[in-house]
Amino acid sequence: MDSHRLLKIGLFGFGCVGQGLYDILSREEALPFKVERICVKDPTKLRPLPTESFTYDWHQVLQDDSLDILVEAISDANEAYTIVAEALRRGKKVVTANKKLVAYHLPELLALQQEFGGVLLYEAAVAGGIPIIRTVEEYFSNEPLERVHGILNGSSNYILSQIFKLQKGYAEALKEAQDKGFAELDPWLDVAGADARHKLCILAAHAFGRTIAPEELAFFGIDYLSDADVEYAKQSDSVIKMVASAHLTADGELVPVVLPSLVDASDDLFVVEQEFNGVVVQGTYSGPQLFKGRGAGGHPTGAAVLSDIVSISNGYSYGYKKLNKTTNAPALALDFELEVYLRSSEPELVAALGLTNLQNVQRDNDTFSVLGTVTLGNLIKNQDHIRKAGAYIMALSSDFVGAPARKVKVQEQVS
Ligand code: HSE
Repeated sequence: MDSHRLLKIGLFGFGCVGQGLYDILSREEALPFKVERICVKDPTKLRPLPTESFTYDWHQVLQDDSLDILVEAISDANEAYTIVAEALRRGKKVVTANKKLVAYHLPELLALQQEFGGVLLYEAAVAGGIPIIRTVEEYFSNEPLERVHGILNGSSNYILSQIFKLQKGYAEALKEAQDKGFAELDPWLDVAGADARHKLCILAAHAFGRTIAPEELAFFGIDYLSDADVEYAKQSDSVIKMVASAHLTADGELVPVVLPSLVDASDDLFVVEQEFNGVVVQGTYSGPQLFKGRGAGGHPTGAAVLSDIVSISNGYSYGYKKLNKTTNAPALALDFELEVYLRSSEPELVAALGLTNLQNVQRDNDTFSVLGTVTLGNLIKNQDHIRKAGAYIMALSSDFVGAPARKVKVQEQVS
């Protein structure tokens, strides 16, 4: 592309991310980018720009060869896939913020780029304003990674911060996260851990050269969090964070999971509050490094989209170095054992999960809580059962392998 002329952007979607990008470009007048067309779905919806600023037919925008870069920022992942796939078939340069789209379709999106010569970047899809994809993809392209873990959902982190720091209720905190534009249109994705799961799938592909289908990955959230669980965390001198993690075992197998976890003051993630995200990248030689920044919101996410726009206009594309290099992508470590806390009213869940090393924490009418050890395989297999039972499960520490000091403390309480 000729870098001296104004590059024209076709923008799909004008929600939080689209407006964030538009606002940044309006303020940064020196940038050589212009939003030429904005395509939205609903002509009746009240929007912050005059009606004539919008177009409603996405085919027309895709057919407009005067546009240099297409930005996809709509929330419906299926529609987003239709648009992005068609754009790539036309060999376009495309930037997306849609994590669900990338998590579910990464292999097809790669194939389309190879076949038709288009390019897709998606920095904004993982951890909002933190430049984590390109850091893992470029900076760590040659160093083997042992672990990538962190807080990848700003809304649930915001809710947990409000609960632990300001003693607010869950519903009130969720409403605030929605009002501030952090939450998904369907906030279940945030609080149930599904959004973090999508982001972890993407991150793991770049970090470990293994594409993980979302269905392969166990995810649990804070949607069934109760006062008793919060109290248990406080008694353990900890807070709760929703941790998305992928690490390699000593045998070279991968443990990917999204699981609320107890986090104490010694944990890198303890300082990640409100809508911030934090990602710890642990290189074999460089050791752990924490990347912290705003994980949600129009401006941080819009800034990540802008960075992709600049990169794509300079000819950058992901090399997928680990994905292309890996002849033996790591298998999932189904036997890996995690130390967990489980609260439920279904005693059969304990047997279904094959929980070992059981310790009682509390029994209250029909509800009980226990500590125990569970394998990753059993977590994956029983995840729907756990959700249907309305049970709450969390790890005892963010590395999943136990918190001995806390267990002693609990034994004393239970006796
Ligand atoms: N709903 C998402 C979050 C937005 O809260 O993290 C950013 O992906």
